[in-house]
Amino acid sequence: MIYLPTKLMDSKSGMETPQESGVESFFNSAPPLKDQSGKPIRVVCVTSGGTTVPLEQRCVRYIDNFSSGNRGAASTEYFVKAGYAVIFVHRRGSCQPYCRYLPQDSFLDFFDIAENSTIKVCEPHGTVVKGAIRDYRKAVEEGFLLKLPFTTIFEYLQILQMVATSMRCLKSHGMFYLAAAVSDFYVPWENMAKHKIQSAEGPLDMRLNQVPKMLLVLRKEWAPAAFCISFKLETDPDILLQKADMAMRKHGMHVVVANELATYKREVSVVTSGEKTRVCSHGQDHDLEEELIDILVARHSEHIKKPSGIDVNE
Ligand code: PMT
Repeated sequence: MIYLPTKLMDSKSGMETPQESGVESFFNSAPPLKDQSGKPIRVVCVTSGGTTVPLEQRCVRYIDNFSSGNRGAASTEYFVKAGYAVIFVHRRGSCQPYCRYLPQDSFLDFFDIAENSTIKVCEPHGTVVKGAIRDYRKAVEEGFLLKLPFTTIFEYLQILQMVATSMRCLKSHGMFYLAAAVSDFYVPWENMAKHKIQSAEGPLDMRLNQVPKMLLVLRKEWAPAAFCISFKLETDPDILLQKADMAMRKHGMHVVVANELATYKREVSVVTSGEKTRVCSHGQDHDLEEELIDILVARHSEHIKKPSGIDVNE
């Protein structure tokens, strides 16, 4: 039998603690993971689309959150272009990276039958589709895009926790870009009707619990050295920037991207503790995400250069 010196043991259980056994210092001092070119890998977890809140365990009805997933899908493409590996945590059926230009409701208008009876893509869409297929395959095959789907708030938060704790070892090279529209209220699983709620029983009274905000937990416990960006959506422009500022401080975010429902496709504000920067789209075919991701990548680089990756004012 091997006896460990008492200082290497947890006083209650007698087991070694990670701090004492050197496990923690091993990981803290390990060099960052590198890509094939020898540069440290940067990984971003992009969350996208709305979460649902089921009202029944065998779900027929649910409450939904507004989000097409376009912001997350577009941002993913620009992150991949900037050299990031993206974990795309998305609502099933929402907008996907490299598919944003495909028609949603008239898919068949995109294709034609060629003279030799094969299917061809109608011009002028062919060029766009070729580019999209090429970029998508490259991203997946070279390990720059991993897609993880969710539907409910339960799935979303469990997947986020799983991804975040796995990304902890990337330290400051990890980034979270939380664009998903997350439910604020939910029915706890154990209080939920098992079967379809019957309308014959009259009007429905339902009490919804508050979904705990996970942002601070993510920031402080799951991946404390990562660079964290959350979003703030409001319908009242007069309170938007103030709420974004508050969210940043309250949840320890490095950046909050503020957008207003009426203009969110054309304009966002990047709010940090020192400044606010407006980012606008320059027309229908221009993605504001291009400039937004440029700004965030530059901020992330500054974050990585800080000694511990942790801000001084935290
Ligand atoms: O997908 P599109 O159609 O392109 O639309 C994009 C968008 C408008 C959905 C996107 O730009 C956006 O603003 N996403 C966040 C919407 C939102 O849920 O805002 P909020 O103010 O309710 O939440 C703020 C932040 O807290 C979010 O980053 C959210 O991930 C997080 N949150 C929210 C509730 C909760 N219980 N826990 C959370 O962690």
